[in-house]
Order: sequence, then C-alpha cells, then structure tokens
Amino acid sequence: MTLTDLFSLDGRVAVVTGGAGQVGGEIARGLAACGAKVAIFDLLAAPEGDGVRSVVVDVTDRAAIERATAELSDVPHILVNAAALDSPPDAPAEEVGPFEDYPSESFDEVMQVNVKGTLFACQAIGARMAAKGRGSIVNVSSVYGMLSPVQELYDFRRADGETFFKPIAYSVSKSALYNLTRYLATYWAKSGVRVNTLTLAGVWNDQPAEFVDAYTARMPLGRMAEAKEVVGPVVFLASDASSYVTGANVVVDGGWSAW
Ligand SMILES: NC(=O)c1ccc[n+]([C@@H]2O[C@H](COP(=O)([O-])OP(=O)(O)OC[C@H]3O[C@@H](n4cnc5c(N)ncnc54)[C@H](O)[C@@H]3O)[C@@H](O)[C@H]2O)c1
Repeated sequence: MTLTDLFSLDGRVAVVTGGAGQVGGEIARGLAACGAKVAIFDLLAAPEGDGVRSVVVDVTDRAAIERATAELSDVPHILVNAAALDSPPDAPAEEVGPFEDYPSESFDEVMQVNVKGTLFACQAIGARMAAKGRGSIVNVSSVYGMLSPVQELYDFRRADGETFFKPIAYSVSKSALYNLTRYLATYWAKSGVRVNTLTLAGVWNDQPAEFVDAYTARMPLGRMAEAKEVVGPVVFLASDASSYVTGANVVVDGGWSAW
C-alpha cells in the first residue's frame, strides 16, 4: 500500500452534518477532494458540486436522518458530526449574562442539537456501519468542551458596561461528546466502526479585532486556525491511515491546551 492509498477515500460515502457551515463545509469539500462522495446533512442548503451534495436534514429528527441515509448510494463509510449551535441565533440578552441566570430553554436548545443530534446521527448511521462491519465516525468538539472558556477574552464586550459571559451550554454539550465517543468506540470496536473526537480551537471567521488580539496573545501558535487546517486531521481519522485509532481525542488547537 502506498502513502496515497493510506489516505485515499476513493469509493467511500461520507455524511457531514452541519456542512452548510464554515468548518463543516471545508470538511465536506476536503473529504470529496480525497475521493469520497459526500452528502451534507444540514438545516440549510449547502453549495453542491465536485462530489458534494446537499440534503436538508434536521439532526434533532432521527426519522429524517434515517430517511436521508436510506437514499444514499451506499451505507456511509464516514460520518462527521459537525452540526452545532454555539448560542442560538436569537440568543436573548440574558443568555450572555451571569451563569446564575442562564435560561433553561437555551440550555435545552443547545443540548438538543449538539448532543442529541450527534447521538441520533450515530444511532441511525453508526448502526448501519456496524451491520456492514466498517466505518469511521468523527465527533467535532471544542477546546471550550475540554477546558473552561477564558472569560477575559471577552473583556472588550464589557467595555461599555454591558454584561457578557461566554455561555455554559456550549461547553457542557461539547464535553458530552468525549464520552459519547468513548462509549461508542468500545461498543462498536468489534464491529469495525471506529469513533473519535476531533477537538478544535477558534477558527478565523472575521471575528472582532479585540477578540482576535486577546485570543492570539494566549495561543502558542500566535494565530487562529484557518478552516482548511481542519481537513488534514479529518481525512486522517476518516481514512485507513488511522485504522488503529479509536476512542481518541485528536486535539487540533494551535497549542491552546499545552499550557
Ligand atoms: N468555528 C470555530 O471556531 C470552532 C471552534 C471549535 C469547534 N467548532 C465546532 O466545529 C463545528 C462547526 O462549527 P462552525 O464554526 O462551522 O459552525 P457554523 O455555525 O458555521 O455551522 C454549523 C452548522 O450546523 C447547522 N445546524 C445547526 N442546527 C442544526 C440541526 N438541528 N440540524 C442540522 N444542521 C444544523 C447550521 O445550519 C450550520 O450550517 C461545530 O461542531 C463547532 O462546535 C468550531
């Protein structure tokens, strides 16, 4: 086997949830560039072409995931769970207020997508993978699920007297993925399905300069990630190159967690 074969995804079918978003979109295009036929499952329609197609699916609706998966050309070889809410788009002001007042509806909404949506995709697609005796699942987590957010990074949001705390739900939801991964890695180990977590730090997306300055000052590599830098680790986890890797947490964080 050549090095190229090791990372090749030729003939593989992949599902990327959240692929209409910034990071998921980059992952979908990256898997397709390595030969996979990729279906994006997202609430929003995503751009199609070059091996990528878009299917509108709400990951909190298990039946919708089942229906969309049944229509694919083969049982997926790869599932990347990237669909997530950070704060709901219509986040009420109290959501970024003190922890003590964090609204329970916001907590439920974030947990519903980030945890239950990932669980449902694993149930629907992982079950089919296990029946076929092959598959690789990548659950996308965050340094904010592995470590506490550094609230001081958001000081600029408080400069004019506003209250701002990075909310709790995202951290709790992303933390839950580590043991979802470990549980399933052992549960399906003998069925040929590998399950890993990919932990990311902040990806550059035109964030406010004050935030970028505070963030990169703490970041060993001195910059935010480019979305494309996520592709290599995902291709590694999706391909035969990682055939002995399961239950692991691959940390792609510019060194954030190294000190
Ligand atoms: N961007 C970062 O800095 C960063 C850092 C660490 C981890 N991550 C993780 O990377 C992943 C992707 O993040 P992103 O920055 O691209 O976010 P994004 O908001 O750009 O994309 C998220 C996508 O999920 C979709 N989605 C939300 N609810 C859904 C549902 N119920 N069903 C189907 N799709 C749904 C949205 O429509 C959106 O397209 C997330 O899991 C996020 O937690 C991102």
